Amino acid sequence: MDKIAVVGGAGRVGESAALYLMQQNLCREVAVIDIAEGPAKGAALDIAESAPVFGSDTRVWGSSDYADLKDSDLIIVTAGLPRKPGMSRSDLLDKNIAIMDQIADAAAEHAPNAMMIVVANPVDVMTYRAWQRTGWPRNRVFGQAGVLDSSRMAWFLAEATGRSMADIDAMVLGGHGDQMVPMMRYTTVNGIPVENFLDQAKIDEIIERTRKGGAEVLGLRENSSAYLAPGASTVEMVESVVNDRGRVLPCVAILDGEYGHSNCAMGVPSILNRNGLDKIVELDLNERERGEFETSLAAVEEDLARLK
Ligand code: 2OP
Repeated sequence: MDKIAVVGGAGRVGESAALYLMQQNLCREVAVIDIAEGPAKGAALDIAESAPVFGSDTRVWGSSDYADLKDSDLIIVTAGLPRKPGMSRSDLLDKNIAIMDQIADAAAEHAPNAMMIVVANPVDVMTYRAWQRTGWPRNRVFGQAGVLDSSRMAWFLAEATGRSMADIDAMVLGGHGDQMVPMMRYTTVNGIPVENFLDQAKIDEIIERTRKGGAEVLGLRENSSAYLAPGASTVEMVESVVNDRGRVLPCVAILDGEYGHSNCAMGVPSILNRNGLDKIVELDLNERERGEFETSLAAVEEDLARLK
């Protein structure tokens, strides 16, 4: 891939995404775009100056001009106001939608053939808005949430079981909120159900901690939401697209009949390859999972109703 733009790149999530892109040498250039010019250029310069340490040829530069989205192959949107302690992700909705509209319009004008990965919160709604506003096909507009939520759960499981991170497979679906749907049936230690390693009380504790994972970091950091794991999770998705890996990762996707729903955005397992979000993988949900999925979607739909 030639050019990836990170919009909101001077914010912490954007900056960490830009850093991981450079470290992994995933593209020829990364444009760090932010309304704050100095911070955009400063963040980019700081990252660029660490490229020699990693032997990376990815050029990182900063700008406050949306016209610099020109010819981007992929646009990562992290711009938006972050949560403050006590705020829900939905509290951010109105302000961040206005920011998303500006970015979507600029993307459609300057990089009409790009893909977009939305990271800004509330991410399910923001992804829907980006899709609606750009008018791009849904394979080119999708969001990051499930990789982060699954990564959090994987870490809690590795910590509790003492088993290797290499063997933990965790899957979290649904909206990126307290009603997200940890899929324990698809969460294993090298294919072995987690029930073989942990009792139900511990599993329930991990499910709850996963659902509140973002708030836990925010509460501890006091003045910042999580940004390292969100940045890394975003870049994991980018890597599957750039290298045409076809990985199956939980992504915020626009549903068009899958899981019995249409015209909405939710976290579902998705195949990521050179086409972007190439295909949604439909799982046969049992009764409890279906109930949790519908509850999670209802919470997202409440916010989406403000856009439809
Ligand atoms: C998180 O889960 C901020 O939504 C982000 O940490």
